[in-house]
Amino acid sequence: MSKFIIQGGKPLSGEIDVLGSKNAALPIIIAALLTDETCIIENVPQITDIEKLILIISDLGVDVKRSGHTLEINAKNLNKSTPNAKLACQMRASVLLMSSLLARLGKAEIACPGGCIIGERPLDIHIKAFEDLGAKVDFDGEVYKVKVDKLNNSIIKMRKVSVTATENILIAAAKISGKTEIFNAAEEPHVVDLAEFLKKMGAKVEGEGTRNITVWGSEKLKGVKHKIIPDMLEAGTFAIAGAATGGNLKINNIEVTHLKSFLEKLDEVGVKFEVGDDYLKIMPSENFNPVVLKTDTYPGFATDFQSPFSVLLTKANGVSKIVETIFEKRLDYLKELAKMGAKIKILNNREAEIYGPTQLRGEKIKSLDLRAGATMILAALTAEGQSEIGQAEIIDRGYERIEERLVKIGAKIKRIN
Ligand code: EPZ
Repeated sequence: MSKFIIQGGKPLSGEIDVLGSKNAALPIIIAALLTDETCIIENVPQITDIEKLILIISDLGVDVKRSGHTLEINAKNLNKSTPNAKLACQMRASVLLMSSLLARLGKAEIACPGGCIIGERPLDIHIKAFEDLGAKVDFDGEVYKVKVDKLNNSIIKMRKVSVTATENILIAAAKISGKTEIFNAAEEPHVVDLAEFLKKMGAKVEGEGTRNITVWGSEKLKGVKHKIIPDMLEAGTFAIAGAATGGNLKINNIEVTHLKSFLEKLDEVGVKFEVGDDYLKIMPSENFNPVVLKTDTYPGFATDFQSPFSVLLTKANGVSKIVETIFEKRLDYLKELAKMGAKIKILNNREAEIYGPTQLRGEKIKSLDLRAGATMILAALTAEGQSEIGQAEIIDRGYERIEERLVKIGAKIKRIN
């Protein structure tokens, strides 16, 4: 167990580079198992979710070589359909192994795909879609056992937009010759990046980035080289760090179009910023406005930005409202912020009000999940005095060497193991 010790009140200034997207890299690594040729994947962040996935697939017979941010993956010897249960239970993305294992081996046994505790996170949409593709799915309360002789084409209508369910079906469909249609698909940039990867491998994909995706798959997919898109969630986290500490911060290597809703909200709050082709510059700003922060599926305001953004709302002049529409249990971190002096009323599981402005003070707080952990770092950076953030390793799931990178832009943060 490690913790971060942060001395708050220092403006974060200078330049910081955004690394590759976790939520794009995870499905793309798993899609690389569809071929027995070598795939080279660049801009893969060095975070623990990726390290765990590498351990899981290596144990399934896949050869993985890492050199810095580049992975070389060869799944010719993929021979096992039972990912390590202990590791699978620690990450949601392990559910994506269902598609590539089914497509390659005709079976998969995945134990309780875990991940952040932010709500119920059922798998019914994945299961129904795999059944539509001809698979048989059994669940014994712990392990999902999925098998099929041959996956068939289908028209899949998802009852609700789900990011990983869309990705699971895209991956499977890429390996089924003929036409598969997905209705009510997720539009997130990481879904589009996965589609780009599958297209390079030899599948034909149309409609990615919209609610209706059509895939013409191929039984013979090839090894390819691909560079993962920048992590929009890192970009947003750093933008808030700059704005909340009153810094002058240039955030490089971003994809501006992915941040549209986020930047609109930043503007509404009154943060001064400048946007370039691939950078975002945060300027010192005062007098933040209260806003209503309602999460939505992409291109709406992402649920993963909800908790980090709340730190800015503690500084706004008036009452802000948070409405979390995606997950049922993603407001608990507000209790940690309240310990630091934030004035917060949790109205119910999905709604809360933040009364600002307040000056947060250093406290002993916890990382409850990945984005909530990043939120605690942001809160501690703006607070007066010293904070201690427990369960720091949760933050390592999605942010590479966060403390080293923040120190370079002026943060006083250290890790204690
Ligand atoms: C992905 O989770 C991300 N994870 C999450 O990132 C992100 O918060 C979320 O999408 C929403 O954008 C990865 O990409 C690995 P969903 P996922 O399926 O796919 C319900 C982070 O911090 N649902 O789009 O699990 C579900 O309960 C994280 O990086 C069903 O009801 O999210 C939720 O209410 C955490 N049945 C909604 O749909 C299903 O079968 C959206 O979930 C599947 C989902």
